[in-house]
Amino acid sequence: MSYLSTGFGLNSYEMIIMNIAVIADIHGNLPALEAVITALERLQPDYVALNGDLINGIPFSAQVIDRVREFDWLVIRGNHEFYYLDFGTEREVPDAHDPERWGQLHWLVNHISPEQGGYLATLPDERTFYLPGAQPLRMAHGVPGRNRVGFYHEQSDEQILAEIRDIPEATLVSAHTHVQINRHVVCQDDPSALLDAMPHPDHVAANGRCARHRWHVINPGSVGLPINGDVRAQFALLTSVSEDVVPGGWQVTHHRIDYDRRPALAEYESSGMLAAGGVISRLFYWELVTAEPEIIYFYRWAYQHGYDPDKSIRPCLDAYIEATGRDQYVRERDPLFSGGS
Ligand SMILES: [Fe+2]
Repeated sequence: MSYLSTGFGLNSYEMIIMNIAVIADIHGNLPALEAVITALERLQPDYVALNGDLINGIPFSAQVIDRVREFDWLVIRGNHEFYYLDFGTEREVPDAHDPERWGQLHWLVNHISPEQGGYLATLPDERTFYLPGAQPLRMAHGVPGRNRVGFYHEQSDEQILAEIRDIPEATLVSAHTHVQINRHVVCQDDPSALLDAMPHPDHVAANGRCARHRWHVINPGSVGLPINGDVRAQFALLTSVSEDVVPGGWQVTHHRIDYDRRPALAEYESSGMLAAGGVISRLFYWELVTAEPEIIYFYRWAYQHGYDPDKSIRPCLDAYIEATGRDQYVRERDPLFSGGS
């Protein structure tokens, strides 16, 4: 926390400046998390918020849970925490016991202790920050109430508005898509109609109208599994500023931190996750190598070519590799083979 003096004489006052570091989508990548922790020690934010998906994908999920619990961070649950929490209950995904499709999840369930699971079970699904001298800030892994909704650069304002139009806070911090976003979205509803419907605009939307005129939508990017083509560990620092500087009152600085991915990549084999997890573990490995959306590529290709990967995933991957040469593409970029990091 720091103070900014504004004005002179009797009209002067001090504005409190708050800094929140937001990290998200670690996905069990302990080396990436350690690199971000080192960066946070240098930045010294007032708060650290972890916006979901601590676990699953990279073989250090249990270690990530333990490391996160060493800090007084504000931790929010993501959809991958629910893959774990729902398994073995009536909420689990269809065919959850199929080892070909869900072996990755089975490995995860076997490597998280009941005590660690209890920690995940009691996390909140969203937070709203009301910090002194700063504008309210809403945070959820997707959007409040839906943790699988996320935002991409390619989306139109209208597509984003459809997901956020009932959110009363001016700033929404999301995650989930593993890409860094810093975007202002304006609702084109007639402002006078908005005022008629809601003379106090900080209340919920009425009659399908927007809850406010504009929003600031932020995604810090992914610590452990970015898919924006940059393999570095990513996060964001939010700084409270005046509305004149940034509408909504929060300025975003995105960070990207170099780290050595080889220990995480090597752990796939040595931990047994690659053998147990099958196709999905392999696709996570590919994403860690390429920082490209390998799982989305695979599913998109499968459906376009008449396959159902949820029914028969191994033959589908074989056909995908045969058609695209994607395994060779990944191998050429793999630091365990190329000597990079
Ligand atoms: Fe994620």
